[in-house]
This record gives sequence, structure tokens and C-alpha cells, in this order.
Amino acid sequence: MTANEIIRKKRDGHPLTSDEMKFIINGYVEGTVPDYQVSSFFMATFFRGMNKEETAEFTRLMLHSGDIIDLSHIPGVKVDKHSTGGVGDKISLPLAPIVAACGVPVPMISGRGLGHTGGTLDKLESIPGFRTNLTIDEYKNVIAELGLVMIGQTKEIAPADKKMYALRDVTSTVECIPLIAGSIMSKKLAEGIDALVLDVKTGRGAFMQTHEQSVELAQALVGIGTSFGKETVGFITDMNQPLGNAIGNWNEVVESVECLRGRSVPDVMELTCVLGGAMVMLGKKAGSLAEGIERCKEAVKNGKAYVKFLELVKRQGGDISFLENVEKYPRSKYSETITAPASGFVTSIDSLELGFSGIMLGAGRTKVDDVIDPKAGILLKKKAGDAVKQGEPIAEIFTDNKEILAKTAQRVANAFSVGAAKPASSPLIISVVDKNGVTAFENYR
Ligand code: URA
Repeated sequence: MTANEIIRKKRDGHPLTSDEMKFIINGYVEGTVPDYQVSSFFMATFFRGMNKEETAEFTRLMLHSGDIIDLSHIPGVKVDKHSTGGVGDKISLPLAPIVAACGVPVPMISGRGLGHTGGTLDKLESIPGFRTNLTIDEYKNVIAELGLVMIGQTKEIAPADKKMYALRDVTSTVECIPLIAGSIMSKKLAEGIDALVLDVKTGRGAFMQTHEQSVELAQALVGIGTSFGKETVGFITDMNQPLGNAIGNWNEVVESVECLRGRSVPDVMELTCVLGGAMVMLGKKAGSLAEGIERCKEAVKNGKAYVKFLELVKRQGGDISFLENVEKYPRSKYSETITAPASGFVTSIDSLELGFSGIMLGAGRTKVDDVIDPKAGILLKKKAGDAVKQGEPIAEIFTDNKEILAKTAQRVANAFSVGAAKPASSPLIISVVDKNGVTAFENYR
């Protein structure tokens, strides 16, 4: 067997055997199959796809490239959430402590920024001192003590995904259902969960741009989770405009902290409470989604969720003084304000363009070994549907790289559309996929 033959077989549209996929996956982890052949395998898969059996086997092989953590000694139903990736998607940051504060243990293993989307790990690592690279023993100790832990993949947890994720990020091979399904589910099945909530993004800033594609991805994810005996629910949610106002890393931590302190950032809190409510329900601490949502709101109101976040940050080595006094954080050397070109209403904000603009500013990677600037990013002053006056600020950008400032400001300006009529509002949470099928969100409750 050679990598070359396997790539050709996939390129020509033939399904691969388990041994063939194992050759590529294990070979990449062990260093016997080089980057350029794995990139080519990804591109062939991108165009040819995988059938249901191949996708399940691909996930199983990725999962077994490492260990499966046993958390059975931790009481309670352990539940996690994972997003397929968005722009301004900081939901895990407020959500995990909220759900843990409701008494549901949350063992969370996240990824870095991928393509134009941000990553929870990069955001957490923008907190000075925060360690996402805990050992498995530390991971088990933290979840046992706090009912919450947030880390990245280690060499033991789905190591194949850790390496492949970074390669897909820079080879334009992210937007592919079997590769996304294998990547997400291998991490999630390794972390010791009993149940899983998925946030499957749809629209301009998502990897799946249509509702049909997103449902297909959700069905693949839910199918894999269910076949591994984990109750899995996928919410299809809108990613046409960024979530919240902050896009970047540290600025998204700040926005998350504000949410945990009770400042309402409407879309962030709506999504956090629905996904969190589902987790609380799956974790058997609420009898219905509506009750779960109420419990999440209460955990913010009574301050328990914020305290839980501070405990987590402290326990994982982070300096909480930066969270308590966000002004202490260093600032970017350069910033520029983008203003409205005309009076009227913001009719749309292109989240894909803003995702790429964030990367240009330094908030994401274009090469595997790029180092992120945690301060860099975008702050939206207006969202779709807001009224604007000509010349009024609509966004501000931050970077240490003077050379890209003007170009990125133009790109951000172009991402906004302003029109005379207020656009019709569209739902943030569209539909739900579980083992029973697809349901419109309004009928799910
Ligand atoms: N999140 C992941 O962990 N992997 C993907 O491929 C996409 C989103």
C-alpha cells in the first residue's frame, strides 16, 4: 500500500477501506506520510466526499489515534457543546461556566481558529497564564474539583485531529462534511462525555452556507454520536452576521466576561442560554429545554456562573486580575474607526469577510506556525437592523501591523451594507436535529 495509490483511489471517487484510511491517518501521526500527501488526500476527499460507512470509520480511526478518557468516577451526566465554527463565536466561554454552575459537569476539549473562524483555545490563551495544555491527570483533577475544564487536544486526545486540523486550516480543505464530522466527533468522543450539544452554523460565515448542507452535517454528527451511545442534539444556527460585537481573541474574552457579569449582548446570550439550556436538560438538571434556559439565566443573575469562570481561569493558571480589570490588558499599537457611508439601516454584515479581516489584523493564522496577536481584532459598533447616520462609527479595528491597517479598514467597510429600509429580522436559531429527525426550532420546545 502507498499513500499515492490511496490518494488516487479517493481522487477517482472510490470508497476507501479501513486499512487504507488507517495508513494515511496513522502514517501522518507517526510522520511516515508527509504533509503534502495528506493535503492531497484532504483535497481529494473535499471533492469526492466519503460515504456514511467511511465517515464513521474515519471518525473511529481518528478517535483511536489516541486515548478515550474515562470520567465514569465523576458523578452526574457529563455534557459538552461544540460549534462547527463561526465568526465572533465566543459562546463556549460564557456557556461552559453557566452550565457547570447549574450542576452539570462540562469536560470541554476545543480547537484553535480554523479557516476564517475563531477558536476557543486561542481565545482562552489570550488570558495571561491560562494553560490549555493540561495533562490527562490534570484534566481529570480539574473536572473533579470544579465540574468544569477547558483544554485543547493533547498528544493523547485525538492526536490525528490535532495535526490534521492545523493542516486543513491552511490548505482550504475545511468545508467538507466527513472531515468536519471526523474532526469534531473524534475530540468529543475522546473526552469522556455522556451527551453532546452541537451548534451547527449556517450561512455566509459558516463552513456550510445553506440550511440543507448544515442539516446534512448535523445529521452526520448526530448519527456518529448516537452510534457511540451518546445522546447528541444539533442546533442549526445563523452565521450570516458575526455573533456579538467582538471578533478576535482577547476582545471576545472581554465580551464573554461582560455577559457573565450580566450585561446583555442579545444574540450571544440568546444562543448561550438555548445551547446551555439543552445541556442542562441532557444533564438531567432540568425537565425541559425551557426549564434549562431559565436555570442558565438564573446562574448568570445570581453571579454563580461568573464565579465559576474565575475559578476555572485561576485553576488553569490564568491571571484573573485581567478579567476583573480588563483595562490592564495591553492595547494594539494601531486602530482605525470605520464609519457609515450613508444614512439608513445596516442591512447585512458579511461575516466571512470579517473573519478574513480578523486574520489580516493578526487574530488568526495563514500558516500552521503563525503566532496570533491576542489583542488584534474588530469591534462592531452596529449590527444588522441598526439605524445609522452617515459618518457614524460602525466598526473599529485593532492591530500592531501598520502596513495592513488601511487595506483591512477598507475590507471591513465593504463588509457592511447600508440601505434605506430596515431589513426583516431572521431567527438566530433555526432548527434542531436529533435522533428523531429535523424539527423547526419553534416547534422543538
Ligand atoms: N470544529 C472542529 O473541531 N473541526 C472542524 O473540522 C470544524 C470545526
